[in-house]
Amino acid sequence: MTQARAKQQRDILVTSALPYANGPIHLGHLLEYIQTDIWVRYQNMRGQNCYYVCADDAHGTAIMLRAEREGISSEQLIERIREEHQQDFAGFNIRFDNYYSTHSEENRQFSEFIYRKLKENGHIATRQITQFFDPEKEMFLADRFIKGTCPKCKAEDQYGDNCEACGATYTPAELINARSAVSGATPVEKQSEHFFFRLPDFEDFLKEWTRSGTLQPQVANKLAEWLDAGLQEWDISRDKPYFGFEIPDAPGKYFYVWLDAPIGYLASFKNLCNRVGIDFEHFWKADSEAEVYHFIGKDIINFHALFWPAMLHDAGFRTPTAVWAHGFVTVNGKKMSKSRGTFIMARTYLDHLDPEYLRYYFASKLTAGVDDMDLNLEDFAARVNSDLVGKVVNIASRSAGFITKRFDGRLGTVTEQEKLKSFIDAGEEIADFYETREFGRAMRRIMELADIANQYVNEEQPWVIAKQEGQDGKLQAICTNAINMFRLLMTYLAPVLPKTAERADSFLDAPLDWNNRSQLLENHAINKFSPLMSRVDMAQVEKMIEASREEMVSATGGQPEAKKAAGNLEPVADEIEFPDFAKVDLRVARIVKAEHVEGADKLLRLTLDIGHGERNVFAGIKSAYGPEELEGRMTVMVANLKPRKMKFGLSEGMVLAAGPGGEEIFILSPDSGATPGMRVM
Ligand code: MSP
Ligand code: ZN
Repeated sequence: MTQARAKQQRDILVTSALPYANGPIHLGHLLEYIQTDIWVRYQNMRGQNCYYVCADDAHGTAIMLRAEREGISSEQLIERIREEHQQDFAGFNIRFDNYYSTHSEENRQFSEFIYRKLKENGHIATRQITQFFDPEKEMFLADRFIKGTCPKCKAEDQYGDNCEACGATYTPAELINARSAVSGATPVEKQSEHFFFRLPDFEDFLKEWTRSGTLQPQVANKLAEWLDAGLQEWDISRDKPYFGFEIPDAPGKYFYVWLDAPIGYLASFKNLCNRVGIDFEHFWKADSEAEVYHFIGKDIINFHALFWPAMLHDAGFRTPTAVWAHGFVTVNGKKMSKSRGTFIMARTYLDHLDPEYLRYYFASKLTAGVDDMDLNLEDFAARVNSDLVGKVVNIASRSAGFITKRFDGRLGTVTEQEKLKSFIDAGEEIADFYETREFGRAMRRIMELADIANQYVNEEQPWVIAKQEGQDGKLQAICTNAINMFRLLMTYLAPVLPKTAERADSFLDAPLDWNNRSQLLENHAINKFSPLMSRVDMAQVEKMIEASREEMVSATGGQPEAKKAAGNLEPVADEIEFPDFAKVDLRVARIVKAEHVEGADKLLRLTLDIGHGERNVFAGIKSAYGPEELEGRMTVMVANLKPRKMKFGLSEGMVLAAGPGGEEIFILSPDSGATPGMRVM
């Protein structure tokens, strides 16, 4: 055989996790969508038939309550959020073939179909369970929707599972004076029938599946531990009221949001198939030769690597070719935090910075593993400026001018055949890195080539040659070589930098075609060069942080963290008379000292100056503030609260703070001009 067998085009379906419809897209989410988008763009560039679908994850109690609070229907709410999500993704040049919603007819049909199969095959159990119930709202309450007094330290207003003041953990039944965080009513215990998916029936199947190259090794090992410990049945039903799909033949029972969420992958793809005429069966039948990949975060592995393959398998669909998990984004070495201004929304980023920067920075740090990734903002600026602006764009900007001014925009012929061949050959290695999701290694290899190209220009010194008589041929050749090097670099960077690649394409007036990259640009007219990318401006980065700090989004940030959900769902309390309010003595206070309290996980000891003396207050804000951030700041306190004896000493008042808890607690500050002791009315 003289010719390699023509490579067959691969049929590939790719998904990213479906973001919750109860919060905005933030930079943490974007790691996943950018990672997936780069991989998909790479596949399409190589000529594969690769589709990328996603959707909003629209169901659940949190959405329902939020819509109620906003006075709109759940459907209206999820439509609005879906629109916002789509705009955010488009802003980062994430190119979905379809962006749908789990609240769709296709999804209802698939969910019912799969459920009926599981039931027919004997994998659905039903049994009574006891839960807390809000008699006023007539709804069952998850732990995070119950509040009361800590049974241990008697701190008031604690959530159903643990105390923020003393750190005790307990069950909602142990709370003193428990009440519903939704209505304030006293919860009662109530029985209800729930439906369970009998996951243990799939133990053998899952042991095999998780070990068959479908998962990253670290993930497969973790799952092996879970599988050895024994699987549990999975509660897949919720009682009304619930925003979701009603379970067939079970009035008042709804599918738990996590049952229909992954089925949303099928539904979104089905919707695409119907729209543009793709054969759905070809991708999803049991013995399909097409490939299916799910990109997800490491927090949702069990749903994708246990429940999901078991459900698909049992319902007669193919299982995913692979599930690829990534780690979590931290900013400047810490969990993203609103008080530090590092809980950065997609929109806030786009208001200040070019999306291509973030795409490159994430790419340069991504591996095929599940390690967390730190977005260090100094490093971010330095790396983008040095690699993209300093190295890559620079090659073109140093050569293009001569071509335009001296040669009427025409390239000559390439004289550095060897060098260019090495650039072309490197494409194979870079391709493997993309394929295996080793984007960081791909970026490093590309930057090595950029160094070689810059070194070439430095040695040839076209700006010197340009001043010499009779050296036109040489000058044109140097610039032609350099521009061809630049073109290959941009071809390799195109999956990461789609907009810059488009601009390079129109500057070169020639497509960046990976598969035909050995055809160099010779005797070809290029367009006038205009800067392809500008430097990251640190002042813009700082403005973005400032804007994020100020932004007190009422939404939950898209994170399923329980406390946040409940904190934001608190209804406005009952009305009071003015004299009741007047009893509260609110004063401007200066935090003169803030200290850690030995043995307390959540508390800081604050010394407050209220004009006519100092107060000692214990505040449960340690999760959101370090003492050094507080000293010297002004805040507002309740000055006439009866002193309370706590384990660590006497607390003489309370500072005012807002937010659901955890890292999202914001102490209130008066405007400048207020001084300690002023009455707040
Ligand atoms: N709705 C579920 C997924 C259902 S998939 C059938 C969900 N939504 S989410 O909005 O919380 O997260 C969407 C994706 O973003 C998840 O894969 C999650 O791991 C990822 N990330 C959310 N915050 C993240 C970081 N801070 N860092 C990296 N990825 C993060 O989970
Ligand atoms: Zn307590």
